[in-house]
Amino acid sequence: MTTLRWGILGTGNIARQFAGAFGTARRGVLAVVGSRESSSAQSFAQTHRIPTHFGSYEQVLRAKDVDAVYISLPNSMHHEWTIRALEAGKHVLCEKPIASNAAEAQDMFDVARRTGRVLMEAFMYRSHPLTHAIVGAVRGGAVGQVRLIRTSFCYRTNRIAGNIRFDPALAGGVLMDVGCYCIDFSRLIAGAEPGRVVGVGHMHASGVDEIAAAVLEFPGGNTATFSCGMSVQADNTAQICGTEGFIEIPVPWKPPVHNATWTLAHSTPPKMDLAAKAVAPPARQTFTVSADRELYALEADDFAHAVLDGTPIRVSEQDTLGNMRVLDELRKQIASTVR
Ligand SMILES: NC(=O)c1ccc[n+]([C@@H]2O[C@H](COP(=O)([O-])OP(=O)(O)OC[C@H]3O[C@@H](n4cnc5c(N)ncnc54)[C@H](OP(=O)(O)O)[C@@H]3O)[C@@H](O)[C@H]2O)c1
Repeated sequence: MTTLRWGILGTGNIARQFAGAFGTARRGVLAVVGSRESSSAQSFAQTHRIPTHFGSYEQVLRAKDVDAVYISLPNSMHHEWTIRALEAGKHVLCEKPIASNAAEAQDMFDVARRTGRVLMEAFMYRSHPLTHAIVGAVRGGAVGQVRLIRTSFCYRTNRIAGNIRFDPALAGGVLMDVGCYCIDFSRLIAGAEPGRVVGVGHMHASGVDEIAAAVLEFPGGNTATFSCGMSVQADNTAQICGTEGFIEIPVPWKPPVHNATWTLAHSTPPKMDLAAKAVAPPARQTFTVSADRELYALEADDFAHAVLDGTPIRVSEQDTLGNMRVLDELRKQIASTVR
């Protein structure tokens, strides 16, 4: 096998983006799509030139010409449909967050192991060369010893009714939706699991967390802070601050295919500390990184690489479980702040 034949479960927002980007993938073809509604499946298949469509998810799992399934369903459905897909002999790329909680995620990886199939959580920014460049720079000592990681991921939506993000029964909430990126990035850069996490937030009337801010304390004196929200705007950048300088990433979560940038800077002391002839800190250096495929195609090809060539998956089981444990703890703390 040299390419993967993909089946897609669900025809919503991210499924459209995934399928829309798929044309640039090198190691896969879209073979089948399944939806709760036959008409949605049909129009999705037409738009994305997918040869087969079904009005159910089960039929995708039964299809003989499907090797891997992409699960783009609401968070609460990831556990059930991932396990059903694995049991049907399919490899699974499952949208983030991989499950409703860490226990479900553990279950899913246990089934993947038993069935000998690959399971990966779809954190697409991990597949962009920008992320690889940042990790390489940090590990190479570009900012000295990392001490502080600061991130935000916010947006404002007015669509509450019918929005999976505002439905507690579908495991919605801002931490699950976008806070998970900040946690994932912080843990990736720290290269460790946090020993302590502390979060506060605001609950929406629908019963999900709507705004959250948290601190992650890593071993070795490294601290991460992040904020996320579904009714607020912010810069949505990432900063990695070290003893010798800091890195700024203007678009860390969904980097553009071409000319994604990051900047390496060295602090300017407060003016009063500057002696008359003080040497100015080195100028900021901005680096540009371009990908050769669309973001979701990079992700699909990373996954195909693991399935077809047996390479380690980009987001490992331990990595995903670590992220889910932090999400579990923060969600518990934030919900408990509301009486
Ligand atoms: N990686 C990324 O860039 C990214 C971006 C956005 C979202 N996501 C993740 O992708 C998943 C889906 O998000 P989305 O934005 O695509 O959501 P969405 O637009 O609401 O789509 C979800 C799809 O799930 C199916 N579905 C099955 N049961 C449903 C129910 N009870 N309520 C609503 N939909 C149901 C529907 O497809 P059918 O009607 O066709 O069956 C629906 O279109 C989430 O896990 C989210 O965290 C990832």
